Parts: sequence; structure tokens; C-alpha cells
Amino acid sequence: MPCVGITGTGSYLPENVLTNADLKKFVDTTDEWITTRTGIRARRIAPPDVPTSELCYRAGLRAIEDAQIAPEEIELIIVATMTPDYAFPATACLVADRLGAKNAAAFDLEAACTGFIYAVVTASQFVATGMYKTVLVIGGETMSKFLNWEDRSTCILFGDGAGAAVLQPVKEGFGFLSFELGADGSGGKLLSQPAGGSKCPASLETVGKNLHTLQMEGKEVYKFAVRIMGDVSVKVLEKAGIKKEDVNLFIPHQANTRIIDAAVKRLGISPDKVVINLDKYGNMSAASVPVALDEAVKKGQISEGDVIVIVGFGAGLTWGACVLRWTKVGLKA
Ligand code: ACO
Repeated sequence: MPCVGITGTGSYLPENVLTNADLKKFVDTTDEWITTRTGIRARRIAPPDVPTSELCYRAGLRAIEDAQIAPEEIELIIVATMTPDYAFPATACLVADRLGAKNAAAFDLEAACTGFIYAVVTASQFVATGMYKTVLVIGGETMSKFLNWEDRSTCILFGDGAGAAVLQPVKEGFGFLSFELGADGSGGKLLSQPAGGSKCPASLETVGKNLHTLQMEGKEVYKFAVRIMGDVSVKVLEKAGIKKEDVNLFIPHQANTRIIDAAVKRLGISPDKVVINLDKYGNMSAASVPVALDEAVKKGQISEGDVIVIVGFGAGLTWGACVLRWTKVGLKA
């Protein structure tokens, strides 16, 4: 079976910056509370007329340019999002059309903040089995459109953005070395958008009660995240047969610096190997890992042969991690 790697990355962030000081003007909060509890200082907000598909399209375009491929070469597009343009059609179909990816199958995948990790694992199976040679995976969100901007316990946490990766066959011993995915639906109520689905269809009452926005039991999610981020990182390294000393870069889901610190401590890796950008962008859900990965690549923080760990958790509850030995050199067909 061919080995599968990431041969191109890209990201896109809306220009509009909302700082903690800006938030203070309309919610009862302080910069001090937000930075000490979460590490977040600012986040990007998409304009009202810009949907998730637009952010995904721009990130996807940059990734395919980086991989030096034509849109027609893409055989599958997976968009990981919990904030799609519509319940249907899938955002991935809209993105495929914008990109001119005429030969691609396209579907959305929903695993909340773990979405990008679930999506690259799914995509890598198509490439590993030889079914497809080129798959585009995008994690994109407009969280700002699904928040209750009067709820200070949630609206301060999230931001908008998109990140993308092209997956192709790579030389032996490189690319994805191991993965680990998990889910526990008994924790589903801890983080949800209660209305708008078949359980609680949209009505004037649901809108009046703000049930179309993100609702979260922050403390419970925090406890789960601290435990799972460390556990799943240890497990995925064991599966790959890689020692923690050999990890070059750790790219965690960007929800909260305290959650990341706990995972890093549990793993026992040096904090200078950890990518953090949540201070600038907040929690971008499925976009957070691919945006952090793209920034690390573009800054030259990742070299050929480096061992990278990506790890995330989110609503569902879900969690996942992958170990990669980095190469951007795809095998030509
Ligand atoms: N500004 C000021 N005070 C606030 C704010 C705010 N923005 N928000 C809450 N408070 C107050 C609360 O009202 C409470 O006051 P009280 O003690 O008088 O009742 C106090 O601060 C403490 O509130 P807690 O909720 O206990 O704060 P905690 O220390 O748990 O931190 C936080 C809250 C940051 C949300 C934390 O629980 C957390 O990070 N949880 C994980 C969240 C997460 O990562 N979610 C993303 C999951 S990924 C996905 O799938 C979308």
C-alpha cells in the first residue's frame, strides 16, 4: 500500500480582527479574564455575507497552488465543518464548484473541532488503498455566525478561518505513520447547537430562546479535554513506535493554552516544540489545526523528515491524533 503524505498546505483568515478590548464594549468581560483563562487575545470575524465555503475555497486554492496541482487532478474534496453554508447541499460541493474541481467527489464531515483530523484520516485511507491519488481536505468555520454574542462564557472563545491540505502518495516511511480516533456520544450534550436539526426543528420559539447558537458546559469540556489530549497523544506515538524525544513539532487543537499546557506536560515534550496561534485567532474549531500547520510550514518550522504530531478534541464528544514523518514530495504517477 502506498504511503500517504501532505504535499501542499494553505490557509485563509478573514481580515476583520476582534480583540478582547473590542469585546469588552458589548459583553461583561475583561482582557485580563480572557487571557489568563484561555490565552486568547484576538480572533478573526468573517463579514455577514461571507459563508464558510468562501473561506474554504480560498484556503483550498492556496493549498493546491502549494502542491503545484491543477484543480482537475483532485479526485475527492472533504470539508470538515460544524458551520456549513447549508444543512444541504454539502459545503464541499460548493467548494469543488468554485475551484473548478470537475473530477472530484465531494462531501462534508462533521466531527466539530476534531473535524480536520477525522477528515485527513478518512482521506488518507482512499489514497492508501490506491482508490485516489489526490485528495483535498479543508477544515473551515464561521463560528461567529453560530454564537450567542450575549453569552460571555462562549462568545469570547471562537473565531473564523479555514486551512487546507493536499494528500498524495509519498515515498516509503514518510507521511502518516499512525492515527487514533475516538468518540463518546454520552457527552454530546456538553457542547451542542440544540435547534435547527430534526430533533428540534427551527421555529420562532427556538430562535427566541437562542437555541441555534453554540451551548457549552465549559468546565466539563475542559476536564475531558485535559485528559484526552494527553492520552491520545501518548497512544498515537506508541502506535507509530516513535519516542517523545523524537517529536519535532506538536500541533494541538487551539482551544485554550491551559489545555495545551496540560497535554504537553503529560507527553513530556519541550514547550518550544509546540505550535500556538490561539492568541491571534481563538478557537477556529476544525480550522485550527490546518491553519496552525500551514503557518508552521510557511514559517519554515518543519523540515523534510521531521516528526509531527497533530491532535484535537471537540463536540461529539470526539478526539483524534496523527503522527506524520514530514515530506512534501509527492510520488509522480
Ligand atoms: N469574562 C469574565 N468572567 C467570565 C467570563 C468572561 N468572558 N466567562 C465566565 N466568567 C465568569 C463566570 O461567570 C464565573 O463567575 P462566578 O464564579 O461568579 O460564577 C467565573 O468567570 C468562572 O467561570 P468558569 O466557567 O468556572 O470559568 P473556567 O475557569 O471554567 O473557564 C472556560 C471557562 C475558559 C470556558 C473553560 O472552562 C474552558 O476552556 N473550557 C473548555 C472549552 C473548550 O475548549 N471548548 C471548545 C471545545 S472544541 C469544539 O468542538 C467547539
